[in-house]
Amino acid sequence: MTDEFPEPRQGRSVTRRTFIGVSLASGAALLAGKSDVTFGAQSSTTPKMATNTTFKLGGDLTVNRLGFGAMRITGEGVWGWPPDRENALKIVTRAVELGVNLIDTADAYGPETSELLIAQALHPYPNGVVIATKGGLTRPGPGQWVPNGRPEHLKQAVEASLKRLRLERIDLYQLHAVDPKVPLEESLGALKQMQDAGKIRHVGLSNVDPHEIARARKIVPIVSVQNRYNIEDRKSENVLIYCEKDNLGFLPWFPIGGGGGLKPENPLNLAAKAHGVSVVQVALAWLLERSPVMLPIPGTSSFAHLEENVAAANLKLTPEEWKAIDAIAG
Ligand SMILES: NC(=O)c1ccc[n+]([C@@H]2O[C@H](COP(=O)([O-])OP(=O)(O)OC[C@H]3O[C@@H](n4cnc5c(N)ncnc54)[C@H](OP(=O)(O)O)[C@@H]3O)[C@@H](O)[C@H]2O)c1
Repeated sequence: MTDEFPEPRQGRSVTRRTFIGVSLASGAALLAGKSDVTFGAQSSTTPKMATNTTFKLGGDLTVNRLGFGAMRITGEGVWGWPPDRENALKIVTRAVELGVNLIDTADAYGPETSELLIAQALHPYPNGVVIATKGGLTRPGPGQWVPNGRPEHLKQAVEASLKRLRLERIDLYQLHAVDPKVPLEESLGALKQMQDAGKIRHVGLSNVDPHEIARARKIVPIVSVQNRYNIEDRKSENVLIYCEKDNLGFLPWFPIGGGGGLKPENPLNLAAKAHGVSVVQVALAWLLERSPVMLPIPGTSSFAHLEENVAAANLKLTPEEWKAIDAIAG
């Protein structure tokens, strides 16, 4: 359904305020903290605000809800090696040190280089670290993304990701996109076979609509969906609602607007000013409070941004701020 794939632009123009409000130590402590899945105190006039810090993927993998997207640790155009490999390795290591234990990647990122860097940085993986990879999109060149959902391709892709990630089983394997040339049932049938063979723990989807999720679930249990979603782009609201209803994890990609960033709309700026944090942090806090199944995976190749993003898990908006930001939706 969603046919927009990433074409990251260089540079970025998000208005950022100096980050002073949320300590990293408390952010990490919070990430490592409570495991309750509850909502905040409600009244008829306040929105539902999710307060759980963790989520159980597939009912058995507890992850801190603020994750890390590893698409940005590759070269320009999500192609090849990054200009500074050491930096990329340190970013991944630092994310885990800060308490992140859900790392999203794909065989298509690089291609291959994102998975290879993750393994180099983290293997042997610390307990509880969940690597969520994807297959089903191929890369003929920089900035190009071509679906291939043929069963043979997907089975080879799983084997290749296992090798690159140095894993015996992939905790979460997501079908990156539906291939319009291949019936969804055939693609998911291949992933089910890999799951039955013990090579995949859980299966997820990406870039799908609710109808496709329902079709997929007839073939294999689905534990998560990854679609484009942020304050300004809520075309996948119906998918989020579906996931919330059935307790599937929802991984919003472009959670902070991708390379172009979010417009620093007034309510975002106002809340950022009130809390002494950045607009990006407010955007992430808004997402986390939007739903208990929301698992944002912001991507960065910058230490300062990584630390800022992780600390956003500790930021609590007031119901009034949350509602004002909610109203920005286009
Ligand atoms: N399933 C799919 O089809 C799909 C598509 C796209 C992405 N994804 C996944 O979703 C993840 C996130 O998507 P994304 O990386 O495209 O979008 P994003 O997380 O919304 O935005 C990343 C961009 O924001 C910048 N940034 C990050 N933190 C910042 C901060 N605190 N302040 C200012 N700028 C900041 C980054 O630049 P710096 O490096 O300078 O920080 C980068 O340019 C990806 O890594 C990937 O895992 C999936």
